[in-house]
Amino acid sequence: MKKKILITGGAGFIGSHVVKLFVKSYPDYEIYNLDKLTYAGNLKNLTEIENEQNYHFIKGDIQDKDFLTTIFEEKGITDVIHLAAESHVDRSISGPMEFIITNIVGTANLLEVARSSWKNESNHIFYHISTDEVYGSLGDEGFFLEDTSYDPRSPYSASKASSDHLVRAYFHTYNLPVKISNCSNNYGSHQFPEKLIPLVINNIKNNKALPVYGTGENVRDWLWVEDHARAIDAIFHKGELGETYNIGGWNEWTNIDLVRKMCQIMDEKLGRTPGTNEQLITFVTDRAGHDMRYAIDATKIKDELGWIPSLEFEEGLEKTIDWYLSNEDWIENVTSGDYQKYYDEHYS
Ligand code: NAD
Ligand code: DAU
Repeated sequence: MKKKILITGGAGFIGSHVVKLFVKSYPDYEIYNLDKLTYAGNLKNLTEIENEQNYHFIKGDIQDKDFLTTIFEEKGITDVIHLAAESHVDRSISGPMEFIITNIVGTANLLEVARSSWKNESNHIFYHISTDEVYGSLGDEGFFLEDTSYDPRSPYSASKASSDHLVRAYFHTYNLPVKISNCSNNYGSHQFPEKLIPLVINNIKNNKALPVYGTGENVRDWLWVEDHARAIDAIFHKGELGETYNIGGWNEWTNIDLVRKMCQIMDEKLGRTPGTNEQLITFVTDRAGHDMRYAIDATKIKDELGWIPSLEFEEGLEKTIDWYLSNEDWIENVTSGDYQKYYDEHYS
């Protein structure tokens, strides 16, 4: 059976890297990128593959179940890789409903349409992309494992946890052939500059304040986005049905150390006197319910599927900074309009 894969959210940050990888690596697959093109979705992320024969873009909303049914029928969708979501924690705090509707109801719509379209056939895959935030917050010690209890704290992570539970329920109740992965913080090119790393790069470049929440001691585990895309490829092709895989970089940084590191690298790149950029660091009111530490134990995917990160963090960070510095028109494009209004309301 020829694979006709529906990738949702393929115009976003991670989704665009996954779409590019699949379109280039698997010319025999038909890749359908279904995306609503919210503020976070940008077709410019996909210019390098947009003319490939096996790539197709569909503008659509996973909140619309009838539309999804039509797409499954018309295109004969055989598999789903589901990334579409509202993804920014701060936005979920100021407006949770869109997260609940897209992340929970949208996932439920996709599950229902896949269930009725695929009946009980087993030669399909419904692969749901999720986050380590569902596990809650760690103290100084320990790691998130695949069987760590869920303990989400933000509307975003609660909506992702809820969608994960629905996906597992469809496996157990209806034998829907599902897979799930939970990944740590991604960084790299094409990430919307509301997230920490691109926001800091953009603000340093423009000599704007670098807002560090609370004390800056919160810890995140950073992974190069193209390594996440490689992990998704490995799980899609080699992972077991019904299984969960944690994906992470074994790469923990406190926010303040990370921001300082970026200041140093960018002093050099922008020809500024050492220490100049650090003066932009501004400690601001903490995020409500701010999780203290995330850290993934990715031993399962390493041992069972042979995946490990390919890039050292220092190298990936430099590449990321270089990409943003040489793609000013991309930043201009995504930071105009609604996003800029949101940014001004929250950060100016
Ligand atoms: P993103 O915000 O950059 O992209 C999300 C995409 O989904 C956008 O293209 C947007 O237009 C689309 N979308 C939103 N609502 C939609 C809807 N109702 N219908 C169709 N399309 C819609 O997000 P991202 O950072 O690329 O994250 C992708 C997925 O990976 C999400 O499910 C997220 O929870 C998960 N994830 C992200 C990270 C991370 O560090 N960014 C880590 C682990 C897991
Ligand atoms: O862990 C995976 C998650 O990582 C994904 O599921 C989310 O979709 C993704 O947005 C990301 O969530 P975070 O909240 O960890 O990422 P963010 O870049 O928003 O923030 C990273 C850390 O930096 C966090 O501790 C909050 C802090 N921060 C963030 C911003 C935007 C600041 O101190 N200042 C800021 O301006």
